[in-house]
Formats: sequence, structure tokens, C-alpha cells
Amino acid sequence: MLPSSDTVSTQGGAIALDHQATTPCHEDVMTAMEPWWREQWGNPSSRQHRLGLTAAAAVQVAREQLSDCLNCSAEQLIFTSGATEANNIALLGHARAVSRERGKPGHLISMVSEHHAVLDPLQQLRSEGFRITLLSPEPDGLLDPKKLEAAISEDTQLVSVMLANNEIGVIQPLPEVAALCRAHGVTLHSDAAQAFGHIPLDSQGLGADFLSLSAHKLNGPKGVGALICHPELAVEPLQWGGGQERGLRPGTLPVPLIMGFAKAAELALSDLESRSQRLEQLRNRLWEGVKQRHPTVLLNGHATARLPHNLNITIPGVLGSKLHRALRSRVACSSGSACSRGEPSHVLMALGRSRQEAEASLRLSLGRSTTDGDIDQAIQALNDVIHQLRHKA
Ligand SMILES: Cc1ncc(COP(=O)(O)O)c(C=O)c1O
Repeated sequence: MLPSSDTVSTQGGAIALDHQATTPCHEDVMTAMEPWWREQWGNPSSRQHRLGLTAAAAVQVAREQLSDCLNCSAEQLIFTSGATEANNIALLGHARAVSRERGKPGHLISMVSEHHAVLDPLQQLRSEGFRITLLSPEPDGLLDPKKLEAAISEDTQLVSVMLANNEIGVIQPLPEVAALCRAHGVTLHSDAAQAFGHIPLDSQGLGADFLSLSAHKLNGPKGVGALICHPELAVEPLQWGGGQERGLRPGTLPVPLIMGFAKAAELALSDLESRSQRLEQLRNRLWEGVKQRHPTVLLNGHATARLPHNLNITIPGVLGSKLHRALRSRVACSSGSACSRGEPSHVLMALGRSRQEAEASLRLSLGRSTTDGDIDQAIQALNDVIHQLRHKA
């Protein structure tokens, strides 16, 4: 059964503050997908009958709508299953294509604080002979462009720096990074999964050669995303088949999901400014509400260069396992990425937090459905739990 709107901001009675893991699919997105599951079930690659042609035309419209939202051309947009796949195609596909041209594997630069969907493909490239440099962020989570410039060498092929961090929400200085990459003739990839639909994103203004996106972070369906890349960039496919998506992502296109993705982007951009202002105020109230009662609680990540709906805090002096257990029934949040495999956050440790501090940390991420009342209840729950754990210890 689909969730009713009453159940969207709570999860089994707990306030839902884990919208950076994923978001609920918007009602209008479900409505937009509906006909493409039922009567319009054609394969867009079937060009010999109306069902297929209708699906192909609809995919083209969705592609154009999405590229308008991103200020890129429709030919630059490749549909994928999500940001993980987009990152893999960009990183592995480009690195392997360039190394084939140059006759040897080159050098790639990224950050220690990236998502595993970037770190793990880079790890794979390392095992194939590529040289990988992972830069540490500054204590506020931001990249110092001077460190990047110092790391670029003659054989540097690609730099990958995410636009907004999935744990601490910090927004990296991408235009500066892009200018550096351009000056040194290096390709730039950016994982923008957490940014698209939450902060203005102009792909041309940003200056990245590859951008990875995911629909389920902006109230769209799970299982669809996109890679934005210029047709002239060298990319080797990771799989082979029917040649769809310029041969870079062969396979039958998921028409309903693509229709949902386009609708989600339209909705996200239509109220981006008012929603982000509202969520920023709520997020700030949440932070103030905890900090006032417990001044030793630490904020993780830059105070202002961050997503409006993200708060990440460390509660010194409490045990992470107890903190999460005590909060679970009242606030649904996380200690870090949903893809962290239970390890303490590598992002928080890169900022200088100890293992124990990283464990005693909370990522609280608000969403479209978060209300004033949710924030009041979350402040109460956090304050009760911190008080209780500190006075028991
Ligand atoms: C920054 C970032 N990159 C990549 C991903 C993976 O995206 P997807 O679930 O669409 O593969 C996520 C989400 O978990 C993310 O936050």
C-alpha cells in the first residue's frame, strides 16, 4: 500500500529526519508515472508500432525537461539506474578510455570525504594500475583549492569532487575547482546526487564535465538517475547490449521511472527557494534548540556553506550505540551515510573526529514534509536522550 500523507513525516511513530538517505515519492510523481505502468507500457526502442513510438516520444520530452532544469542539452543526458551507476560510468569509463588513448593508466584526484559510490570505483581503478590521490577536507569539510592545485600533476586525468556532501551537507566550491581543472586541462566529475533539487544547479555555470544525479533524493522514484556528459568526452561503456543511451547505458529504458524523475525535478525546482528557506529556518531552530540545552554538542561541517536541510552533530561523552538505541523510537535519523556498512563515518573522521565521536554523531536531514511540530518533537527527544545518557554515564 502507498503511504498516506500522514505517514510521510513519521516512520513507525518516529519523526522522519533521514531525507538524505532517501525521500518519499511525491503524490504528483506517482500520478505522472501511473499511465506508463498501465496502458502506455511500450518499449521506447520499439520503433515499429504506436506503443513504442509513444514511449520514445515521452522519454524524449522527459529528457528535454530534465536538461532544461539543469541547463544542459538533451544529448548530454544519459539515463542510469541512479547516481552510483552514473559515478561508475564517469569514473571507470573515462579513466579507462583515456588510458587506452595514452597507452598507460594515469592519475585521478578526489577527496577522502566522498560517498562510497565514488571511493569504491576509484579503489577499483587503483587495482587496475591508476594512481589515486584522496585529499583531506579542511576541518569544516570544505576542499582547499590550493591543495587540489598542488596535487595536480602532468598525468592527472580526472578530478572528482562532490557538489554537496551526503553526511555533513557542505557545499564544495565547485566553480573554483572547475576553473583550476580547466586551467590544467583536467576533466572534472561531480557527484551532485545530494544537491539537485535542493540548491540551484546550473550545469554550465558549475563547469563540471560529468555530473551524477539521482531521482530518489528529490521525491522521485528509486532506481533512476542520470549522468550529464558531453558527447565528445571519451567514455568506455561498462556494459554492452542494445546500444541505448549512446551505447553508454544499454538496456531497456525504465519509462515510468524516467517520467517520475522529470516530474520530481519540475516539482523540486518550482518551490526550491521557498522550500529551502523554510527548511533552513527549521534546521537552524533544531540546532539552536539542542545547542542551548547542551552547549558542548558540536556541529560537523561548515556553518553556512551547507545544504539547508542538513544538520550533523556530535554529542561528546555519550556512547554512539546507546545514543542511537535511545533515539530510535522517537527520531528516525542516521549516524552517517546509508551506504556506510555500519562503520563509523569516514567523513567525520576526515574532519578530525575520533572513532568514538564519529559513532556518537547524528545526521538529521529534513524534507519537504517536515513540519514545525516535527522539529519541536525532535528537539524534545534529542534533549531528553542526551540528558538521560549523560546523567546515567
Ligand atoms: C552523494 C551520493 N552519491 C551517490 C549516492 C547513491 O545514489 P543512488 O542510490 O541513486 O545510486 C548517494 C545516495 O545514497 C549519495 O548521497
